[in-house]
Amino acid sequence: MTFLRMYDTFPVEIERARGVYVFDKEGQKYLDTFAGIGVMSLGHSDPGLLETLKAKMDRYMHVSNFFLDEDTLVVSQKLVNFTGKNGTVYFTNSGTEATEAALKAVKKRATAKRTKIVYFENSFHGRTLGSLSINGFKNLREPFEPLIPNTVELKFNDLSELDNFFESFGEETLAVFVEPILGSGGVVPITPEFAKAIEKYKKQYNFILVCDEIQAGLGRTGKIFAYQHYGLSPDIITVAKSLGGGLPLGATIFLENISQAFEKGEHGSTFAPNPVALAGARYVLEKVPALVEDVTKKGEYIIQSLSCKSLSKIKEIRGKGLMIGIELKESEPHLISNALDIGLLLNIVKGKVVRLLPALNISYTEIEEMINKLEVILD
Ligand SMILES: Cc1ncc(COP(=O)(O)O)c(C=O)c1O
Repeated sequence: MTFLRMYDTFPVEIERARGVYVFDKEGQKYLDTFAGIGVMSLGHSDPGLLETLKAKMDRYMHVSNFFLDEDTLVVSQKLVNFTGKNGTVYFTNSGTEATEAALKAVKKRATAKRTKIVYFENSFHGRTLGSLSINGFKNLREPFEPLIPNTVELKFNDLSELDNFFESFGEETLAVFVEPILGSGGVVPITPEFAKAIEKYKKQYNFILVCDEIQAGLGRTGKIFAYQHYGLSPDIITVAKSLGGGLPLGATIFLENISQAFEKGEHGSTFAPNPVALAGARYVLEKVPALVEDVTKKGEYIIQSLSCKSLSKIKEIRGKGLMIGIELKESEPHLISNALDIGLLLNIVKGKVVRLLPALNISYTEIEEMINKLEVILD
């Protein structure tokens, strides 16, 4: 095969996808529990979204950054408004590029004394060489080392390691990158104590706090940004995944005194931001705020319903809103194919955590169907 396989693909040939369902070429219907890894937050083929994308495409698809598309201003203003602060937005084509832009802005602010960039074990910020330097997955990072210098990995939610680090290196800390809820790392929310400690050290040492909201952001957890649950005050926020409504689009949001992140020409991209993806983002960002309250309730309902069933294979269920991790007692090598057999698309991270990232507008009937199917394979 000439295609370089980087993923284990499902033995399913997709014909079409609508809402929370994916249909294969044989007419089989599957309930999608992870929405294209958190990308299709309004479900597949949302009619209003399709209309918006087509309307932009009918006008033009790409014109280069020598022209300012009208949606650039609308989308960036919306993203900044969600933070309640002043800021600017740099658009990218992906999450890893949003991390790269954050890293470049951070590195530009390094001084002879202040050089250390902290990240946490099991956090995932991307796979390009810069973002890989702060990727908390050792197996992904190590084959490509040495990467950028002065990065420091600390254990997530380990207060004493954090205290020890800042006691010794507080003055040397340039930035801290944190995913408020580890996504690929197994759906692990930051503890309130850990978030509070990060904030305390931020006040004390004045480092740049970067919140990676690429997976947890844009309504997924029941707030527009996951950091808003934990009282974190980021200077830089990265988003991607669901932003473009299924088209590649990411953004790095620079707040307050980092707003002038780059001078003209210091960073750029041929493709980003794509005008059609921006039209998608405008539509997504108009729709999502009305969904967040229900996202919280639906998430609580799913966790409660599954917990009540005391399913034999489950060790723990955790998460916020519609970002839920079901940790199994042990890895179940046949779980994904067992799920396919009963019409369920499953995603597993860290070997034994079923990661639920369904469309934010999933209905309660669809939730019931998902829970019933999970019960069949997890008991
Ligand atoms: C939290 C987080 N950050 C960054 C990335 C990288 O995004 P992308 O795959 O779009 O480069 C991901 C992707 O899964 C992610 O979940």
